[in-house]
Amino acid sequence: MSSYSVLAKYYDRLMGDFDYGAYVEFIKDKLSGEGADIACGSGEITVRLAKAGCRMTGIDLSEEMLNVARDKARREGLDVKWVRQDIVQLELAHKVDFITAVCDGFNYVPQNRLGAVLDRIRANLKEGGTLVFDVSSEYKLRNILADNLFCEDYDDVTYIWQNTLKRDCVDMDVDFFEKTQSGLYRRVEETHRQYIHTQEKIESILKDKWTWQVYDGEKFGKVSQKSKRLLFICKSL
Ligand SMILES: C[S@@+](CC[C@H](N)C(=O)[O-])C[C@H]1O[C@@H](n2cnc3c(N)ncnc32)[C@H](O)[C@@H]1O
Repeated sequence: MSSYSVLAKYYDRLMGDFDYGAYVEFIKDKLSGEGADIACGSGEITVRLAKAGCRMTGIDLSEEMLNVARDKARREGLDVKWVRQDIVQLELAHKVDFITAVCDGFNYVPQNRLGAVLDRIRANLKEGGTLVFDVSSEYKLRNILADNLFCEDYDDVTYIWQNTLKRDCVDMDVDFFEKTQSGLYRRVEETHRQYIHTQEKIESILKDKWTWQVYDGEKFGKVSQKSKRLLFICKSL
């Protein structure tokens, strides 16, 4: 199964330890006006920024994730536009003031396409527009996620997540065991591939087209060798 077709149903539950509140607190005073949240997933950031007063569009490849996001915005009575699109070919209806790509969106983009994605983002931003994105760091992918196994056991579903480190990416095989009405479990599998983007490589792509600052994306302070998330706040030149 393709990435997120099953996970969408459980994504918010599994992200319980990701502090979206702290993240939005850190970025929100850098953003205003109209924005697009790309690789928006279940829309946590999109919806929070809409609540903070921004006009938002959420973009994602997965229809299942967009459905979760759409329901969330509807429940909150928010007017957010949702679009299914591949960020490699990003094309917004008009230019926006800012674009966000939070929690690993760029880890799903192969190294040789990251430059193209950043160019598409620039083309869709107003002059001097802001881009906020993060990646799971090389340290996290190589030392924490690589060749490791994670599992969670809930009443309705159990999942086993097995990672295999390749040269420049981590392949993730996720098995879900979903409890059915009969009490038996149905097994569904999906795969993910997250690419390793080093800070140096990202900065070499940003050079000459953007100005930027980089932070530890969990502590919102200085980056260290053991930072698990690198958060870039960029201005288009
Ligand atoms: C880890 S989730 C992050 C979701 C959300 N931004 C958040 O903060 O929770 C990564 C998302 O990237 C989306 N994605 C991956 N590759 C994509 C692509 N090429 N174009 C658009 N979305 C993509 C996936 O469908 C998934 O929803």
